[in-house]
Amino acid sequence: MTFDPVQVSHLIKNRRSIFPKNYSGERVADEVIMEMLENANWAPTHKMTEPWRFTVFCDEGIESFADYQAERYLKSAGKKPDADRLKKLKSKPLMCSHIISIGMKRNKSVPKMEEVAAVAAAVQNMHLTATANGVGCYWSTGGVTYDKKAKAFFELGDKDLLMGFLYIGIPKADKWPIGKRKSIDKKVRWIKK
Ligand SMILES: Cc1cc2nc3c(=O)[nH]c(=O)nc-3n(C[C@H](O)[C@H](O)[C@H](O)COP(=O)(O)O)c2cc1C
Repeated sequence: MTFDPVQVSHLIKNRRSIFPKNYSGERVADEVIMEMLENANWAPTHKMTEPWRFTVFCDEGIESFADYQAERYLKSAGKKPDADRLKKLKSKPLMCSHIISIGMKRNKSVPKMEEVAAVAAAVQNMHLTATANGVGCYWSTGGVTYDKKAKAFFELGDKDLLMGFLYIGIPKADKWPIGKRKSIDKKVRWIKK
């Protein structure tokens, strides 16, 4: 089997987080979303637990998602909800074409860290597939991510983990950002003898 390593590196380095304010409002074809999900399913997984679980929200489903986030926020915020936060929770999802909730189905046969790592690898597969298709997305751990009571809405049990959301949209024409990283040299140690 052969792959073009230059193309692979190019794809990896040009994968960017692109945020809803930079989406054009066009709808991403469901076929692209399905390809992203299919590729997510090929992430590595110890003991083949395949712990990733996704819910795809699109069309009116996005409104249900936004309403749910806002409702949960109002329930948890007490008497003085922050009006700006509430507005963002409602409006940001509506800028997206699709939103995918990222869940981890806990399987006690491997340590939790390994299950989280497998789901993160699945998300990276989705993100790279989106990039290859010119589709923008970003992994959000905002909203109801850490709200334990929200798990059931995404069909996750108490022991499972809600790991956030992939916000997805077609980027505005000039909105593919340039990335930056500090050099790998200071993050690696080589031992040769
Ligand atoms: C697990 C995880 C959670 C993230 N959560 C957020 C988030 O809640 N809000 C946000 O603006 N970006 C979030 N990001 C995206 C990062 O901000 C982004 O990956 C980083 O700025 C590097 O940019 P790049 O993805 O374009 O390389 C998250 C990324 C990861 C991997």
